[in-house]
Amino acid sequence: MSINFLEHKIFDIVSTTAKENGVRAFVIGGYVRDCFLARPCTDIDIVVEGSGIEIAKAVGKKVKSNVSIFKNFGTAMLKYDGLEIEFVGARKESYSHNSRKPIVENGTLKEDQERRDFTINALAFSLQEEDYGNLIDPFGGVADLQNGIIRTPLDPDITYSDDPLRMIRAIRFAAQLGFSISEESLRSIKRNKNRLEILSRERIAEEMNKILMSPKPSIGLQLLQDCELLEQFLPQLSRLQGVETQEGRGHKDNFAHTLQVVDNITTQTDNLWLRWAALLHDIGKPASKRYEPGIGWTFHTHEFIGAKMIPGVFKQMKMPLNEKMKYVQKLVALHLRPTALVEDCVTDSAIRRLLFDAGDDIDDLMILCNADITSKNENKVRKIKENFALVTRKLVEVEAKDAIRNFQNPITGELIMEYFGIEPSRPIGIIKEAIKEAILEGEIENNFEQAFALMKIKGEELGLVHKK
Ligand code: CTP
Repeated sequence: MSINFLEHKIFDIVSTTAKENGVRAFVIGGYVRDCFLARPCTDIDIVVEGSGIEIAKAVGKKVKSNVSIFKNFGTAMLKYDGLEIEFVGARKESYSHNSRKPIVENGTLKEDQERRDFTINALAFSLQEEDYGNLIDPFGGVADLQNGIIRTPLDPDITYSDDPLRMIRAIRFAAQLGFSISEESLRSIKRNKNRLEILSRERIAEEMNKILMSPKPSIGLQLLQDCELLEQFLPQLSRLQGVETQEGRGHKDNFAHTLQVVDNITTQTDNLWLRWAALLHDIGKPASKRYEPGIGWTFHTHEFIGAKMIPGVFKQMKMPLNEKMKYVQKLVALHLRPTALVEDCVTDSAIRRLLFDAGDDIDDLMILCNADITSKNENKVRKIKENFALVTRKLVEVEAKDAIRNFQNPITGELIMEYFGIEPSRPIGIIKEAIKEAILEGEIENNFEQAFALMKIKGEELGLVHKK
């Protein structure tokens, strides 16, 4: 089968260079797969029956591009014309970049292909003059692409023990491509679930990010749960599954609900961290669950319990403990507030308090809250959505009037100290807090004159005297 996927001149250059060096070279892996899926791909993997690093150096010289060499991995990479091209020698052993096993090179193409993760990732195009562009597909990868199947080239127990991350990669590809995983593979993943232990959490987090950024993350998340992988690295989430019943009353399955919320939010935002917030928004529920006779199931304060759990989750996933974590934590803590507003009457002061607490993340919070509406009762959903629209309108109105979103107290500590002739001390905080509260409550407007007048009154109440 000859296909014209090798139009870019870099393939010609690699082909000639390999010939000059007396080795065979092939395009392999993701690039070939994505050609068949008509997905754009700028990462090109070249496998060489010989030293990948030597060929990379020779190609680099020709195209006048710097070559980065990763001796430990036996790979070399160069950038050319918007493409990232990675070279590697064909391997007999596991292909994984991060494997702890030693790299065994000097393999043939066939040996290299069979140590790769999936049949759809083991496809290769020849770069030899005599059969240039020929597809080499020893494991039926193209058929698997057509049938939407993730399958390993070898016995899955071998492929997955070579690099256990592949178990999560299988699920990630299923989510990204909407494929199913072969039964044999699924059984093997369940059997080998404990092998996740040896993986670095950073690699798992990277795959989780890709699952969350896929078109329908619930496919991947459900598979992670069903294969019992999720409980290995994110038990807080896995634990949401299940329904308890008392006095004939059950609560909703919070895992299924969470998946629905993540899918909902995926249609509204590409912000990875907002998707993480959706994933984690209810993790405080198991710890807060109570059955109150005559009332039913309650999850009081689960949003605060959940928010407190976020740093632990980030740490355990080796994700950065930075402002992204704080953002997720804030959204989890606030995720009930707009809904609570809808249920009470929507006063301006409640709106101002929400604007004050959410700040610039108010729009994202509203997206999260909208995604969180998953009731099957259509009337209920319609009613909540209508009220939500009202809250959204009010938010815009109140913000235009009072500018609370990036609240800056109109009165600074310096001004208070200067006016009353005092040093840094407790009354300054008390006065500033009183001004903020009065603005949020709507007792005064958010401007300097009214805030200054209140400062004088509060100062006098505290026994302070204006220093002339
Ligand atoms: N590979 C593998 N086992 C792994 C990782 C990678 O066999 N644990 C092989 C696969 O053949 C894969 C190729 O290395 O196609 C390149 O890996 P990578 O760049 O991680 O993945 P892609 O398939 O290109 O897909 P993506 O860029 O979406 O990760």
